[in-house]
Amino acid sequence: MTLQKAPHIPVMMDEMLEYFADVSIKVFFDGTLGAGGHAKAMLEAHPEIEMYIGCDQDPMALAIAKENLSAFEHKIKFIHGNFLNLDQMIASVGVKQVDGFFLI
Ligand SMILES: C[S@@+](CC[C@H](N)C(=O)[O-])C[C@H]1O[C@@H](n2cnc3c(N)ncnc32)[C@H](O)[C@@H]1O
Repeated sequence: MTLQKAPHIPVMMDEMLEYFADVSIKVFFDGTLGAGGHAKAMLEAHPEIEMYIGCDQDPMALAIAKENLSAFEHKIKFIHGNFLNLDQMIASVGVKQVDGFFLI
């Protein structure tokens, strides 16, 4: 089955990129990975990112994101779950803190 590549247009893209424009990011937490539209934009704008933790509670969204973000696969930790469990999630990938996050 070919997964849908873009189920919707990510919102507030410009605002998000502008907010993080001057921030040097090593580890980023994206609590609502969805189809990965925001993630792709962040990874393109911030090549310094070493680990992008992408969480979603919907397994289908994660499958779509994996397809859409295949070029960045080596940097991304795909995690299935609720972002309310942020602490456990980042600990599970060996991280104690993140340099930025969003939930949009
Ligand atoms: C509007 S979409 C996110 C768009 C995404 N940032 C993108 O660029 O495509 C919302 C996503 O958030 C996920 N979501 C909503 N509440 C969540 C929660 N509490 N924990 C994890 N994922 C959640 C949904 O499953 C859905 O895939």
